[in-house]
Amino acid sequence: MADKGHGLLSGKSGVIFGALNESSLAWAIAEAIHREGGRFVLTNAPIAKRLGTVDALAERTGSPVVWADATSAEDLDALFRQAKETFGGVDFVVHSIGMGMNVRKDRPYEDLDYDWYHKTLDISAISLHRVVHSAETTGALNDGGSIVALSYIGAQRVFSKYSEMGDAKALLESIVRSYGYRLGRRGIRINTISQSPTRTTAGSGITGFDGMFDFADRLAPLGNADAASCADYTVTLLSDLTRMVTMQTLFHDGGFSAMGISDALIEQLKNAQGS
Ligand SMILES: NC(=O)c1ccc[n+]([C@@H]2O[C@H](COP(=O)([O-])OP(=O)(O)OC[C@H]3O[C@@H](n4cnc5c(N)ncnc54)[C@H](O)[C@@H]3O)[C@@H](O)[C@H]2O)c1
Repeated sequence: MADKGHGLLSGKSGVIFGALNESSLAWAIAEAIHREGGRFVLTNAPIAKRLGTVDALAERTGSPVVWADATSAEDLDALFRQAKETFGGVDFVVHSIGMGMNVRKDRPYEDLDYDWYHKTLDISAISLHRVVHSAETTGALNDGGSIVALSYIGAQRVFSKYSEMGDAKALLESIVRSYGYRLGRRGIRINTISQSPTRTTAGSGITGFDGMFDFADRLAPLGNADAASCADYTVTLLSDLTRMVTMQTLFHDGGFSAMGISDALIEQLKNAQGS
């Protein structure tokens, strides 16, 4: 992509959730939106102040940072009120938030800690509902806007190590459809991007991530999609070029989701079996 961009988002403003450090998908997305002329508030959970480097991104893109826990209605309302005050209204929202409590602590799916499970669903999926609700009720969300959330193919298929996060992503994608129907009245669209495994803090927190990454990379005809290409794809969804696309799970995975097995993998399995 050209460093200068194409002004695809000039005149648009929004809120970006989930940039923690340079490896975050939301970080690459923020840089791409900035390149395309969009303005935004960066937001993350208060704990990210200590764990991340959001301020550096804020400086680079000239963006305000508002700390907000995406499971807190109060925090979200304050965030969207501030975004409205800063920009007059919000044309786009990027939800790039995920946390698998049981996954992180290696609790097997058959023996989930239910308090953690609730928390996983609340942070990774229900937060999207809360975000849209708050963006609407504060009056911040403009007609004709676009909302994008990040998902993974574990919503549709079993990736054994993805565990409870598969349930969270299934709920996230369902919320996108249910809310999308309601938002359509105002010309607002909402979609998920189902992204390839990507080396980020959340991604690497999954035991077996390297195996999932390599498998997808070998099977996908184009290989795994990286964070920069995910960011470019996000820009298209926030732009007017995709104004009739809503309520979709859009696979951004180099073709992985359409594959069964490849010649290369058959050869590798044969070799592993010594046949
Ligand atoms: N990395 C991958 O392989 C991959 C693949 C497909 C989809 N995704 C999805 O992409 C999104 C972004 O994850 P990432 O891989 O960039 O990792 P990341 O760790 O950089 O981002 C996750 C973000 O969620 C934020 N967060 C956690 N709890 C929060 C809360 N209560 N309130 C507000 N923010 C909170 C974290 O602070 C962090 O910024 C997630 O939805 C993830 O599931 C990731």
